[in-house]
Amino acid sequence: VPLSDPGTIDCARVQVRRVRESDLPALMDVSGDPRVTRFLPYETWTSPNDANAWYRRMEDLMAPGTALQLVVVEKRSSLAIGTCLLFRFEERSARAEIGYALAHSAWNKGYMREALTALVDCAFTLLSLRRLEAEVDPRNIASAGLMTRLGFTREGLLRERWITKGEPTDVLVFGLLETEWAKRG
Ligand SMILES: CC(C)(COP(=O)(O)OP(=O)(O)OC[C@H]1O[C@@H](n2cnc3c(N)ncnc32)[C@H](O)[C@@H]1OP(=O)(O)O)[C@@H](O)C(=O)NCCC(=O)NCCS
Repeated sequence: VPLSDPGTIDCARVQVRRVRESDLPALMDVSGDPRVTRFLPYETWTSPNDANAWYRRMEDLMAPGTALQLVVVEKRSSLAIGTCLLFRFEERSARAEIGYALAHSAWNKGYMREALTALVDCAFTLLSLRRLEAEVDPRNIASAGLMTRLGFTREGLLRERWITKGEPTDVLVFGLLETEWAKRG
């Protein structure tokens, strides 16, 4: 069974839903901002062409059902203020990886914790996954803190796993099991 579209997941201040082409202008504030992409293993968008090319790649990635590219929509403004995704879905092991990024103006308000709490819950219940993983640049204190806050365990350090902005970088692997999520306080 491929990853199915969860529809609109409603949280207190944000919603999480599949990306639409009409989200791309707002997402320039996410993937087009070097402060946001600093520790991410891809180039910062510099034009609407980059946004369109990314959207086509995400459509291709989602077609076989092994990825779900979602956006975080701020309910107050109805604007996409961030992205989150499930990818590298391995059906045989009921496992996938998560990725996420938020516009700089929306940092430190608990928005991504809210969005990922909903996404993780959806992955373990609706989508029946058993294990989630995240790869984080060790210099990315906010992201490592967010993973820990959500109950992920730091499982290891992979040396020079990425090339980020032209530079080889180590990567922390975080993991969370469904059994741990079910027991959270
Ligand atoms: C990582 C990121 C998504 C965090 O989003 P956010 O909405 O600001 O995070 P939240 O406000 O929900 O914070 C949740 C938890 O994360 C941790 N955290 C967030 N920012 C932090 C920071 N600057 N320093 C330390 N811990 C931080 C805290 O534990 C926090 O819990 P608390 O509020 O109870 O203290 C955001 O900083 C971002 O978009 N960074 C650039 C993109 C990126 O690096 N993505 C991850 C790639 S692996």
